[in-house]
Amino acid sequence: MSGEPAVASFTDTHPDPESFLDDALAGLGATPKTLPSKYFYDDRGSELFQRICEVPEYYVTRAETALLGNIAGQAAEMIGDGASIIEYGTGSSEKIAILLAALNRPAAFVAVDISAGVLRGVAERVARDFPDLAVHAVCADFTRPFKLPKMSSPGRRVVFFPGSSLGNFDHEQSVDFLANAACIVGPGGGMLIGIDLKKDEAVLNAAYDDAQGVTAAFNLNLLQRLNRECGADFDLDAFRHRAFYNADAGRIEMHLVSLHAQVVALGGQSISFAEGETIHTENSYKYSVPEFQDLARRAGCEPLGAWTDAEGLFSLHYLSVACDR
Ligand code: TRP
Repeated sequence: MSGEPAVASFTDTHPDPESFLDDALAGLGATPKTLPSKYFYDDRGSELFQRICEVPEYYVTRAETALLGNIAGQAAEMIGDGASIIEYGTGSSEKIAILLAALNRPAAFVAVDISAGVLRGVAERVARDFPDLAVHAVCADFTRPFKLPKMSSPGRRVVFFPGSSLGNFDHEQSVDFLANAACIVGPGGGMLIGIDLKKDEAVLNAAYDDAQGVTAAFNLNLLQRLNRECGADFDLDAFRHRAFYNADAGRIEMHLVSLHAQVVALGGQSISFAEGETIHTENSYKYSVPEFQDLARRAGCEPLGAWTDAEGLFSLHYLSVACDR
């Protein structure tokens, strides 16, 4: 389309279905059974996740978006002029638009997401709304190494990781992830991270088990994907979504519970489930501000800014990567 601001590059390193089957067989062959949570986000899963963000119980997206609106100016000052922003897990363009609008002459934006459909939509919208920005899209599994497009900008590189997605890693993985991101932004670079706060258990439990059942549908979509893409024969009525706060571990756990004893076929293997046995599909760790700052320091990052909303629902952190590392 001539005249329309275009996305400068689209790189596709999307994982193939073979690795989904291999990963699923490994997870379902283990005790206790697990499935890797990155497979939630096919196009249907990403759509369901957008709907989770709108259910009344899931306060995370609303709290973060409002908080970001309030502190974007302060974050922009720390980030400085002519920065390049790399966003992981770009679900929608709303939050990045708030950040970009607050920045002084940002140079480039790189959107990284595992879902090609969502990614394309976000990259095109940002390119249209910020015509002077070099917009790149990378379809990749960001839990593995991937290549960033070439960016020539004198400004700071900053990773933007909203949505409490870092909370979906365990503590060790989170430290590794932050250390990796620190390498990507380099000495003097920064990170703006959104992470959910510890709070009343009832509020947490409701957020991950909404009354409309959107979160349940999102969780069950993993089994539907295995049926659709890997020829499995999961009976979706024989599994139920269960989410609860595990206070000792400081995390919400998401499971799929087998309602009765059953055998499921997958990739030429038979997988047996006892009644009540679960597939552990996701964790969502919650952090107090000092707990998160400790984690950041362990990854070699310096916490320069921490903001929370008045209700104590959510936190945003600006981390800096030392110049002499
Ligand atoms: N990063 C989100 C969170 O931890 C992901 C999420 C929200 C999620 N609801 C979910 C993951 C339900 C699995 C199931 O809040």
